[in-house]
Amino acid sequence: MKILVVGGGGREHAIITKIKQNKSVSKIYALPGNGGIARDAECVNIGAKDIDAIVNFAVENKIDYAIVAPDDPLVLGYVDALEAKGIPCFGPRANAAIIEGSKVFSKELMKKYSIPTAECEVFDDVEKALKYIETAPIPTVIKADGLALGKGVIIAFTREEAIDAVKSMMCDKAFGKSGERIVVEEFLEGPEVSVLAFTDGKSVVPMVSSMDHKRVGEGDTGLNTGGMGTIAPNPYYTDAVAWQCMERIFLPTIRAMNCEGRTFKGCLYFGLMLTKDGPKVIEYNCRFGDPETQVVLPLLETDLLTVMQAVTNETLGELDVKFSDKHACCVIMASKGYPESYNKGYEIEIPESVIDNVYVAGAAIKDGKLVTSGGRVLGVTAIADTLPEAIDASYKLVSEIKFENSYIRRDIGARALKAPEVK
Ligand code: AMP
Ligand code: GLY
Repeated sequence: MKILVVGGGGREHAIITKIKQNKSVSKIYALPGNGGIARDAECVNIGAKDIDAIVNFAVENKIDYAIVAPDDPLVLGYVDALEAKGIPCFGPRANAAIIEGSKVFSKELMKKYSIPTAECEVFDDVEKALKYIETAPIPTVIKADGLALGKGVIIAFTREEAIDAVKSMMCDKAFGKSGERIVVEEFLEGPEVSVLAFTDGKSVVPMVSSMDHKRVGEGDTGLNTGGMGTIAPNPYYTDAVAWQCMERIFLPTIRAMNCEGRTFKGCLYFGLMLTKDGPKVIEYNCRFGDPETQVVLPLLETDLLTVMQAVTNETLGELDVKFSDKHACCVIMASKGYPESYNKGYEIEIPESVIDNVYVAGAAIKDGKLVTSGGRVLGVTAIADTLPEAIDASYKLVSEIKFENSYIRRDIGARALKAPEVK
């Protein structure tokens, strides 16, 4: 089989690593891929947003199955376009990807179907939004409606910050059209859990839970990033919590999307907060999370392509999807300065003994050498019997990898180790 993977980050590298293990796969193309993915797939330099070029490429190269990984192409309807040419895909169609593409849509969906989430108000008029902020409980959370590279959420701890956030989104258009409508949301507190789930619209199969570390600085300080590291499973996500989430959130969401005529097929990501009033949805993503995928997929024991095809064929319920009971930790090696400005082009040295543990996020090949090309450069994943062992092992691997100007958070997993469930 010839497989096409749209995307080019650490998440796509983790997906490709798994897909490669299926014996029926003869060729994998990554569009655009990256310098590290090039070890495992043929990278084709078509941008992940160039829909016509990607569809033409898939047709010309007789692709048997396509996996559309990033949010933008899903929201833009890549799956619809590829399916229209008879190419089966993994990923939701545009009418379902809206669950991530519009926060207003997802909030209204949750309200209509009584799915627990933060209370909120929606505004498309700046004066009304500012008036509301005058008396809103503080802290408050301001969210741009549309996609904003994971940066469209501002937690305002003072009224002034809230006013600035509203103005920057609605007046200064900090996120372009994505901020023309905003959601002003109740501030929730509690441990955060990411749960990625396979769903074919009939069954939902949650993967092992995980925990992201979004802030750039240790102790969860500093700016939000695309994610500085992850651990799985998340020890706060007990069996009792998992049961509540299945009954109150996962199944109701799948049913709600069906009722709306927007059946979701693919990987649905539930960003959850375990509040004192029970688990609540912080956000939905219409795709695998990054870097959650880099800890979740290494623990998947069932063949990934088989699971994906079962999702496409709506036979997921017939499959027994198994995960290992081990623990995983992924530490992101970033460029110093990320998520703001940083230099690129530094040579990366990865010993051969470590290479299978590395998912490349932002690196290119230059003069035959792997060099840094992005803010997040590598995800380094270790698996072990316990969480402390997995954390130690991933930092040990990191210490063997060298590139100038690298930055890591040294406390990935520290918060998880404080969970009462960790012995
Ligand atoms: P996002 O960029 O959408 O992944 O959201 C960034 C982060 O903002 C989340 O991971 C949460 O930590 C935080 N967040 C979002 N909504 C809320 C909320 N209602 N209350 C508290 N924190 C929130
Ligand atoms: N790790 C969060 C995301 O993929 O959006």
